Amino acid sequence: MPNQVQYDINIKKSKIMTVGVIGAGTMGSGIAQVAATADCTVKLYDTKQEALDNSKAKLEKVLARLIEKGRIDETEKSRIQENISYVSKLKDIADADLTIEAIVENLEVKRQVFQELESYQTKDAIIASNTSSLSIASIAASLEHPERVIGIHFFNPAPLMPLVEVIPAVQTSDEVKDKVVQIIADWKKIGVLAKDTPGFIVNRVARPFYGEALRIHEEGQASFAEIDHVMKTLGGFRMGPFELMDFIGNDVNYTVTETVFKEFYYDPRYKPSFTQKRLAEAGYLGRKSGKGFYDYKDGKIDKDCHPELDSGSLSKEKATQILDRVLIMLINEAADALFLNIATAKDIDLAMTKGVNYPKGLLAWANEKGIDWCVETMDALYEEYREDRYRCSPLLRKMDKSGRRF
Ligand code: NAI
Repeated sequence: MPNQVQYDINIKKSKIMTVGVIGAGTMGSGIAQVAATADCTVKLYDTKQEALDNSKAKLEKVLARLIEKGRIDETEKSRIQENISYVSKLKDIADADLTIEAIVENLEVKRQVFQELESYQTKDAIIASNTSSLSIASIAASLEHPERVIGIHFFNPAPLMPLVEVIPAVQTSDEVKDKVVQIIADWKKIGVLAKDTPGFIVNRVARPFYGEALRIHEEGQASFAEIDHVMKTLGGFRMGPFELMDFIGNDVNYTVTETVFKEFYYDPRYKPSFTQKRLAEAGYLGRKSGKGFYDYKDGKIDKDCHPELDSGSLSKEKATQILDRVLIMLINEAADALFLNIATAKDIDLAMTKGVNYPKGLLAWANEKGIDWCVETMDALYEEYREDRYRCSPLLRKMDKSGRRF
């Protein structure tokens, strides 16, 4: 019972807390908006005055659009704006109960900033990183009180995407983890707990969506547009893998894949693709550079150049084969993440539906297709290629034998 009382006090505290955000770029600005909307006092810090000015101007625009759409009124807009102050010294966020860092993806720079911040703060202030690819343990290790450090990973755009991955490091205290889970719920986000492993949940489980589609193309089985068409019309995905890679940026998406591959000690399941590497090297980054897997006109795919994107020129049999191959690799990855206790089954499915808008949770999808189908399809791929990339997760095999479902 005493624990319960303590917990309630913490919950109340979280609602009126002061939040520091470090880095006023894409993610930091979005995170500041989320916290300010939840009525926290937010201090947004950046080394560049220009970044702070841009962030403020962008928020003005975003909120004005929300008024136009009738989602908020003028009072709400002012309230959100007044909740945020823009500061140019790290010391200015010393009194934050929780600080979320969203600066360059560089371990040394992050460590320096965290060390300086710690020197201004009391030991119970929580310090979090929004990193996509660095281990939380490695960031925490540079601090005197590593138990206060945790990963809080938002998705872009932070105000719109409901998912937040919460990643306790081996050093993180249970109290900090519980508080952060509560804060994320207070901010009306869907929090999932993930183990501090490469790619956490989403960036790990989603790898085959890109990797297997690229491999299918490299084998000469279908064009980018044909694969995208299949994944959207037959699979129900909002965007096809190639459209999505172009949207994310081939430089960014390739780097994430390469990082995950290296971090998993070169497990062939995560092997990057030369096709994408060459595009990134050529500067064909996707939408932002006007050319990637597709050609772009006025920020949109030039449909005149890519008619197959809408028409679907493959036979039903071929289309099903392509969808099944990408889908089974995704399911296998999700099953393996569960097998290795990266997260619970519920959180793995929530992560993919709420973080990257998959039409269904992958484990729920596995149940629908049948666990026996999953094992047979993986084994058939392995039989064909004899590559470790196509090894079936032991969990799927075990479940098939026992007749269990997710
Ligand atoms: P960004 O480049 O848009 O913004 C970074 C900001 O940090 C810039 O305004 C820069 O001036 C500032 N900054 C750099 N060094 C600083 C320092 N030492 N002190 C204070 N400010 C500093 O970057 P973005 O995309 O917002 O990413 C930030 C972090 O969030 C990275 O760790 C990234 O991995 C992670 N992330 C990015 C996502 C995305 O889709 N862009 C999604 C989820 C996480």
